[in-house]
Amino acid sequence: MASKTLDDLFHETLKDIYYAERQIVKALPKMARGAQDPKLKAAFEKHREETEGQIDRLKQVFEIIGKRAQGKTCPAIDGIIEEGEEILDEFKGTPALDAGLLAAAQAVEHYEISRYGTLRAWAQQLGHRDAVTLLEQTLAEESKTDEALTTLAKTAVNTAAQKAA
Ligand SMILES: [Fe+2]
Ligand SMILES: [Fe+2]
Repeated sequence: MASKTLDDLFHETLKDIYYAERQIVKALPKMARGAQDPKLKAAFEKHREETEGQIDRLKQVFEIIGKRAQGKTCPAIDGIIEEGEEILDEFKGTPALDAGLLAAAQAVEHYEISRYGTLRAWAQQLGHRDAVTLLEQTLAEESKTDEALTTLAKTAVNTAAQKAA
């Protein structure tokens, strides 16, 4: 078996998050359509646009390491998105729907934050300075999105969810 290196690990993880982002960009419009609170809807729509930019950044990172942009099925993100779809289904028309969707979206963000944090550290280690900058930009967007969702949960969505149907 050929020996594998940190370069290989970086490349594999890049394929993982590239696949994940492409699934997320498809899932966000469904979540936006499902959300009842206009602010939550707007947050999902805004993040869909950001996600398109993030996919472009990933393509640039592939270029930096001299590889073709290519995804690799990531069962973790598939599972997280599936859970979000379950909530859409099972809580449709109920006051708790938005709280469930918001929580599902935060699970996605936390997955991304974990991946981008790792990729940034490895890019640093491998001396891909331009990749570090690109990955940091995305990491900052994911963190900001997560924080905005927390604020929305605390200020509106969780209270609305508690109301009787
Ligand atoms: Fe993302
Ligand atoms: Fe995200």
